[in-house]
Amino acid sequence: MDKIVVEGGAQLKGEIRISGAKNAALPIMAATLLSPGKFLLSNVPRLRDVLTMEHVLRVLGAQVTHHDHSITVDTTNCNYHEAPYELVKTMRASICVLGPVLARLGRARVSLPGGCAWGPRPVDFHIKAMRDLGATVEIDHGYIVAEAKRLKGASIVFEKSSVGATENAMMAATLADGTTVIENAASEPEISALANFLRSMGAVIDGDGTGTITIEGADELRSADVNVVPDRIEAGTFMVAAAITRGDVLIMGADIAQCGAVVSKLREAGVEIIAVEDGIRVRGPERLESVNVTTAPYPGFPTDMQAQFMALMSVAGGSSVVTDTVYADRFSHVPELRRLGADITMDRNVAVVTGVEHLSGAKVMATDLRASAALILAGLVAEGTTEVSRVYHIDRGYEAIEKKLSGLGAHIWREKAAA
Ligand code: UD1
Repeated sequence: MDKIVVEGGAQLKGEIRISGAKNAALPIMAATLLSPGKFLLSNVPRLRDVLTMEHVLRVLGAQVTHHDHSITVDTTNCNYHEAPYELVKTMRASICVLGPVLARLGRARVSLPGGCAWGPRPVDFHIKAMRDLGATVEIDHGYIVAEAKRLKGASIVFEKSSVGATENAMMAATLADGTTVIENAASEPEISALANFLRSMGAVIDGDGTGTITIEGADELRSADVNVVPDRIEAGTFMVAAAITRGDVLIMGADIAQCGAVVSKLREAGVEIIAVEDGIRVRGPERLESVNVTTAPYPGFPTDMQAQFMALMSVAGGSSVVTDTVYADRFSHVPELRRLGADITMDRNVAVVTGVEHLSGAKVMATDLRASAALILAGLVAEGTTEVSRVYHIDRGYEAIEKKLSGLGAHIWREKAAA
């Protein structure tokens, strides 16, 4: 298996460009299933998760071709309704084909995704939403089996904000008979990115970006083209890279308005962040201040930035309390950061990080996507060499991270596993 090797100590300087957002691209790809036709998706990141979603679409009958950062999807002959376990288990986001396939074909059979590196991640809200829209849903041999001749507009009230369930409900409702109102909807920017795409397909949607989304169902939608929005989590990760190395980096394409909570926590920690035309300039301080962070649904601090922020706090001057309220078990990076010399104690979903003067390079293992990013960030300032193995996790969600970092002056490279 490939590994990423980092020699710590380089101050990052220069300019990088942010790729398209994985978490916007994946549901948009699923939404192409709602209408027969040919779609052109641009600014799609070249990531393993995107390849997995291409595979899922092909299994459902789509023709998918990609060229560089564009994907063409032809959904004219999408007559298959089953997303198999072998694919869904490798990427939980495959669940977002449930709503579109059910709405278009009147039935869907989608494998339950199963657990995840940081514990159980249920899909009960997705199932509830399909039931609210009038589908019969059963669990059969590990599969969600949903049927409805035509979905009916309904009131859907989520007990907790869920990005994926909101997306599934919104997509399914675009082809339902009548009006759907989703309450306690997630308001992440990726929801609005999906809503914009659905509107360009002819859907009538109002209120995305707030907790209440209204959808007027249509008899049919049409194909459309889209340019995927920049990845706010990749942008946040590079902000931390600049901060932790006391660097000075221009992060082009990043939208500061979508990074509000991360920007304000970094500023509290002493990092200088300035909005520039088409990007953000980030300058790290000589010594970082410790600040507390609690994750929450948007516009709160994203759980997808918790691990990277913990790497930053591990070299800050003081103690910081990091709490994850979205995923209580998402701390698999903690033992690995400790291997690099970080001082972290844990009590359930609360970590106390006491900054140390120096981290020291070691062999560590990536355990999930954002955990691997955190280990690379820590490796950038650790004394000596850090080797991060199991980098297939990072390839799920960061496009050429080692190339982007080495372009900023980091001593980082990928070592290919012997064939
Ligand atoms: C999405 C993101 C992921 C991010 C997460 C939270 C994509 C492809 N992935 O994941 O990167 O970390 O949002 O911002 O966009 N829940 C239930 N039942 C459900 C669904 C969710 O209890 O049926 C709970 C989850 O366990 C979690 C919370 O709701 O505690 C939020 O999860 P959710 O927003 O659904 O995450 P995803 O959409 O899977």
